[in-house]
Amino acid sequence: MFNPLSVALSVHILGIIVWVGGMFFAHQALRPAIVEVLEPPQRLSLWVATFKRFFLWVWISIVLVLVSGLWMLSLYPQIPVFMHIMLGLGVIMMLIFLHVFFAPYKKLKQAVAEERWVDGAKALGQIRLLVGINLSIGLVTTIVATAGKFYL
Ligand code: HEM
Repeated sequence: MFNPLSVALSVHILGIIVWVGGMFFAHQALRPAIVEVLEPPQRLSLWVATFKRFFLWVWISIVLVLVSGLWMLSLYPQIPVFMHIMLGLGVIMMLIFLHVFFAPYKKLKQAVAEERWVDGAKALGQIRLLVGINLSIGLVTTIVATAGKFYL
C-alpha cells in the first residue's frame, strides 16, 4: 500500500545528497583544481557562475529537507534524542547557508562585477571556510541520523 512516509523520507534523503554531496565536490575537488589551473579573475568569475547554479539547488534542498523532516517528526509520539540532534545540526547548517548567501556571496558577486579581485578573494575565502564547516556538520549529521538509532 502507498505510504506517504516513504515519499517524505526519499525527498529528505535526496535533498541531503544534493546539498552535502555538492558541498563535498565543491570543497574537495573543484576548489583545489581551480587554484591549480586558473588565475584569480577567471577563478572568481567561475565561482560566481558555479554558486549561481549550486545555491539554487541548495535552496530547493533546504525547503525539501525541512518540510519533509518536520512532517516526519510530527508523526512521532516521542522524538528520539538522535533526531533532536539532527534537527539542531540541520538548523545550524541552514543558518550558516543563509549567512553565506546574504553576506560573503553577495560581496563576491559585487566584487567580481566591479573587477575588485582582492575583495573578491577575501569574500571567497569566507565562503570556503563556512562551506568547509557546513560540510563537516553535514557529514556528522548524516552519521547521527543513520547510525544514531543504535546508540541514542
Ligand atoms: C533540519 C531539520 C531536519 C528534520 C526536522 C529532520 C527529521 C528527520 C526525521 C523525522 C527522520 C526520520 C524519518 C523516519 O524514518 O521516520 C529523518 C531521517 C533522516 N535524516 Fe533528517 N531531519 C532534518 C535534517 C537533516 C539533515 C541536515 C541531515 C543530514 C545532513 C539529515 C539526514 C537524515 C538521514 C540520513 C535520515 C535517514 C535515517 C534513516 O532512515 O536511517 N536530516 N530526518
